[in-house]
Amino acid sequence: MSAVSNQLTVPKHVAIIMDGNGRWAKERGLKRTEGHREGMEAIRRIAHHAADKGVKVLTLYAFSTENWKRPPQEVHYLMKLPVEFFDRFVPELIANNIRVNMMGIKDKVPSSTLKAIHKAIDETKHCTGMVLNFAFNYGGRLEIVEAIKTIAQDVSDGQVAIRAIDEELITQRLFSNDLAPYSDIDLMIRSSGEQRLSNFMLWQNAYSEFYFVEKNWPDFDGKIFDEAILSYQKRHRRFGGLV
Ligand code: FPP
Repeated sequence: MSAVSNQLTVPKHVAIIMDGNGRWAKERGLKRTEGHREGMEAIRRIAHHAADKGVKVLTLYAFSTENWKRPPQEVHYLMKLPVEFFDRFVPELIANNIRVNMMGIKDKVPSSTLKAIHKAIDETKHCTGMVLNFAFNYGGRLEIVEAIKTIAQDVSDGQVAIRAIDEELITQRLFSNDLAPYSDIDLMIRSSGEQRLSNFMLWQNAYSEFYFVEKNWPDFDGKIFDEAILSYQKRHRRFGGLV
């Protein structure tokens, strides 16, 4: 097996664009929703695996603000999946000391989905281990727009001076502020062979390391995760400076 070290170089914040559920299903002659169902099983697998490796925050791109463009039946299914996921898996998340967090906007999300999400957040709020952060109804540009609005309001109210606007203030106004001190991503993984960001955590990915996987998300497993960590451990992060 791999020699992933649980020491210093384990990335603190790993984010995954879980792509390829539809293709996984198509390759098997199944409905796209079957791919999403298997994708949910992969979430369960990888959440525990990442927690066991010592990752502090695992962010998963579960539903983007652009995903509303999909057929209504698929959107409906994707809105129901969190309900089932949390219903079935919250007890084992708690047993593994994993805390659930959600990042995104409520607009258009059915109340039953919101209820399940908030229940999971509440039931795991005492957990002190890894944060399992779902980007749900999330868009990177939208997040920045919302941050700018709050700052503009504060400037207009005389609460914030323009000269006080800096990277730290913007970071604090993003949805990801809940993840502080780990809001910046260390390792960004995308499955299914696609190599793009798709409006995912644009600010927080500024200095992340990218790792692209050919396999579709439902086939993602601990071995692939370990390979990504090993690759990360071999890199020299310079953050624009020199080693
Ligand atoms: C991308 O594959 C995947 C999604 C848009 C949805 C991912 C959602 C889950 C895995 C389940 C979410 C569950 C919880 C608990 C929040 P795709 O459909 O774009 O695949 P394709 O590119 O092959 O068509």
